[in-house]
Parts: sequence; C-alpha cells; structure tokens
Amino acid sequence: MLLSHRPRRLRRTSVLRALGAEHRIDVSQLIYPLFVQESATPRTEIPAMAGQYRWSPDALLGEIERCMQMGLGAFALFPVVDKAHKDRTGEAAVRSDTFYLRAIAGVKQRFPEACVVSDVALDPYHADGHDGLWHKGEVVNDATLPLLAEMALLQAEAGADIVAPSDMMDGRVGVIRQALEKKGHHHTVIMAYTAKYASGLYAPFRSALDSAPAVGDKKGYQLPPDAKRAALTEATLDEKEGADVLMIKPALPYLDVIAAVRAQCPLPVAAYQVSGEYAMIKAAAQAGWIDEATIRNETLLCIKRAGADMILSYFAKDMAKDMASELQTQKP
Ligand code: PBG
Repeated sequence: MLLSHRPRRLRRTSVLRALGAEHRIDVSQLIYPLFVQESATPRTEIPAMAGQYRWSPDALLGEIERCMQMGLGAFALFPVVDKAHKDRTGEAAVRSDTFYLRAIAGVKQRFPEACVVSDVALDPYHADGHDGLWHKGEVVNDATLPLLAEMALLQAEAGADIVAPSDMMDGRVGVIRQALEKKGHHHTVIMAYTAKYASGLYAPFRSALDSAPAVGDKKGYQLPPDAKRAALTEATLDEKEGADVLMIKPALPYLDVIAAVRAQCPLPVAAYQVSGEYAMIKAAAQAGWIDEATIRNETLLCIKRAGADMILSYFAKDMAKDMASELQTQKP
C-alpha cells in the first residue's frame, strides 16, 4: 500500500510517543489529600479507602516528610473531629484552638516550603454532617457565611497557603476574600470548589470523617449531576468574587465540565479525583480485574487532557513514588 499518511509512525516506540506527548502527569501539579485526626493514635486505616489513613497531627509530619522526599509539595488537609466536639451551632468550626489549626501550623513550622490547602466548610464539625447551618429542614446560606469567613481567616492565620471552601454556599468566596484582605492576608490563595456536584462518590470520604448527613442530603447546595451551564454560572461568580483557582469535583465523570470551565475562564483549573473514584479503582484492582497503576495513570492523564492544571488525588503519593523510581517512560 502507498499510504500518504501513517499516524502510527509516531506511536511506534516509547521514545517517539513521549516526544509527541500532548499531556503529562507532573508531580508538581498534584495535591495530596490527607486526613488528620483528633487522636494520638499515629494512624488508622480508612477501610473504604485502601492505603489511606487518618493521621495524628504528629504522625502527619512524618508522612508529609516522606511525600516531600518524593517530590510532592502540596497537601490538602481534612480534619476528623471527635464526635464529642461536633455541634449544631457551627461554633466548633470557629474555635481558635482546634487540633486542626494546630496541625496546619505544625506542618508549616516544620516544612515552611510545603503548600498547605485547608478545608473551609462546617461538615467536619457539624453533628448533622452538613456544610452549613441546618435550620427548619434546610441549610441556610447567609447565616453560614460569617462562619466560613472566620474559618478561612483562622486557617490563614495558622499558615495555610490556600484556603479551599468546599461548602457551595452562595457568596462565600466574596466574604472570604474580603475577610482575608481586611486582615492583611493578601497572599492567601482561594481555591474555590466551584462546581461541586451532589455525588454518590463522596461516600468513602464521609466514612472517614463520620460526616454523612444525618438529616436530609446535600442536593440543596451541591450541583445536580446533569448540570453544565450551572457550573459555568458558578465559575463566573467565583471569578468575580475573587477566587484564584476554580475546582471541579468529582473529576472523571465530569470531564466535560472541566473542559467547559477551562474554555470559559482564564484562571487555573483544579480537579478533585474523589474518594469514590479512588475506591472503585482500588477495589477492582484488588479483585484482580484491572491493573491499578495503568488505570491510575490513565485517569489522571485524562483529567489533564480535559483541561485541569492541578489535580487533587489520593493516588498522588503512589504516583510520586513510581515517578521517582523510574524515569517515567510514558504509561499507559
Ligand atoms: C465536604 C467535603 C466532601 C468532600 C470534600 N469536602 C464531601 C461532601 O460534600 O460530603 C469529598 C472528597 C472526597 O470524596 O474525596 N465539605
């Protein structure tokens, strides 16, 4: 055959494939979510998230050190609050002496160069597991906002480089930005959970925090899975209100949303490969039905291709470990 075009030429060897790669996983664009618990037990495995742990504030330092040696630089910390310290007023979320704030400060003190992403939402501290105040059968928006602003401020004061409101209340990026500016936290980055969907894929995370909604659900504030234009509205608002980074979550089922936000807005885009996405891959791999590293690399690469700059993923450490040990001849 005298074919004028043979696209396969560029796919023949791994070197050729790598030369023409359109996207790459770069450890410097991964953010590793870590759970910190209010307990001295160094670590407790999270059954629904094989290989992930709830760390004591002390043991967390060791884990971050190991991760940093492999090239990871950014860590999203989530608090696992003792049941006895949860309430319905939101007051537990804005105490100035929580173990969570001490953990953030501890990490920044020991590793000033680490980038700490803190979580702004009431659910870890809320007896009902909601991200805002629950009143007469719904989560109320405006009464929640001052609490979120106060949380973000306390976290910035503790040293968080990035505050990440994961609550989906209207107007929260604006009030957080104003609160930070007023107190001189001009450098604190706001990574907004811009398009956070009401997804069943958060179940393993909620089991880790014991934060599944005790009443109602989160559909009154998180986006419905069918929505794409609504995500673009959220992106426009977050941008106007002063967000620095826009996040989409979950990642893989919402690649079209990542691409749409990427196309609409010049800000950096983050995607969160959430606990359920991780758990599904882990479980299938443990059953021997798929190859974990192949699917890990493939999913992360696809999230990049869709338009994400940075990715939050529970695979970050494994990815960094593999990339440190081999000079990544591009997989898959
Ligand atoms: C809540 C929050 C959730 C996650 C991050 N922050 C769950 C929820 O909305 O109930 C999920 C992350 C994951 O599943 O990995 N503010």
